[in-house]
Amino acid sequence: MHDQNFVEGFSKLNKKKKIDWLVKRYFAGRSDARALLERYMHADDRVQSLHDGFIENTLTNYWLPYAVAPNFLINGRTYAVPMVTEESSVVAAAAKAAKFWYPFGGFKARVTGKVKLGHIHLLYYGSAEKLQNFFAQTREEFLRRLKPFTENMEKRGGGILSVELEDWTRRLDYYYTVTFRLDTADSMGANFINTILEEWADYMEETYPSFGRPDELEIIMRILSNHNPGCRVRVSVEASEQELTRRTGIDDYARRFETAVKMAGINPYRAVTHNKGIMNGIDAVVLATGNDFRAVEAGAHAFAASEGEYRSLSSVERSDGMFRFILDIPLAVGTVGGMTRLHPLARLSMELLGNPGAGELMQIIASVGLAQNFSAVHSLITEGIQTGHMRMHLNNILNQLGATPGEAEQIRQLFATRKAHVRAVKEALNRLRNKK
Ligand code: MEV
Repeated sequence: MHDQNFVEGFSKLNKKKKIDWLVKRYFAGRSDARALLERYMHADDRVQSLHDGFIENTLTNYWLPYAVAPNFLINGRTYAVPMVTEESSVVAAAAKAAKFWYPFGGFKARVTGKVKLGHIHLLYYGSAEKLQNFFAQTREEFLRRLKPFTENMEKRGGGILSVELEDWTRRLDYYYTVTFRLDTADSMGANFINTILEEWADYMEETYPSFGRPDELEIIMRILSNHNPGCRVRVSVEASEQELTRRTGIDDYARRFETAVKMAGINPYRAVTHNKGIMNGIDAVVLATGNDFRAVEAGAHAFAASEGEYRSLSSVERSDGMFRFILDIPLAVGTVGGMTRLHPLARLSMELLGNPGAGELMQIIASVGLAQNFSAVHSLITEGIQTGHMRMHLNNILNQLGATPGEAEQIRQLFATRKAHVRAVKEALNRLRNKK
């Protein structure tokens, strides 16, 4: 039995009919719901139809602010970095950290690996030796058969780096993987990797009957991995502890900062929040450049937990009076293909960044992650995060309360040195209005 809101063939309705159905079923026919959906549609039909094509059942667009954080000095070049986020303090914090580190020479970033992984997950009911033999006998032939798929990628500097059989039977009976290490050049590479895996799995299934009983081999899945510890970037900022003290006005700044990061290095409760701060910056650039933030998030957190306990992705080194703050993170992103080229704003972001290759984009993204982390930890060990958050949040509160520009200005002055909690702002606004 289906209830009245069950719908068959929804995806086949045109957009108007989809909206009609939705408004009738879920908004009691209210015209404001329809008007809101329509208001967020793009005025240019070509752009809207591009958006409609990205996903199924598109009704309208969900807007997020697109901002830039200027003054990011990374490996000697100054970038204005595009960021898309809804969190009020994120861009301000990134920009502040970028400016803070500029006179110290900015961010030094290095890609330490560009290896991505993909697996054919299979069950094999014969002996491990027999599977090993099959794999060894067919490996070269399958690689040859893949040429039409790998040739182009090879021309762009990528391709298959290795293929191995891995034995997982100690953890799950009969379980093996065919593990691919790949370089996908400037693309994120999901399509390339998944195609390779699906082709190889087909070859295995086709070829196996001439080697053994067909029912000995059961392919279960073929999919890339989002855990890519070999696709990594390391970024650092560095300053003398004396200079840090001078700039911040805090005597033992470096020690306090280091202690905060050490706490995130051993306490998973703190580490998750600490890393969330890093991802505030990373996701915003990943989104602005049309990359897959879920893949980046999943990979970062898997890496943070890869030593058996969830830990901080950043660390501090102190020696000979120098303070170094480091982020080491896997980042599987691309600058060609997919959304990076399809979405006009993602394309604009790439242009703004000087049309970087994937490696350079990894360096930029990681730098913003480190900057974000720096700002967060700085706030936490000094005034706390509420003052800054609330300063940024004040505009949202004022909008919500319908303050006029004049009222907003007066309230901003009033809260310049005070924490702006919703209730306090409301009371202040009421007082202001009652005075009139
Ligand atoms: C808030 O979005 C992020 C922080 O909680 C990060 C942190 O605690 O390090 C401020």
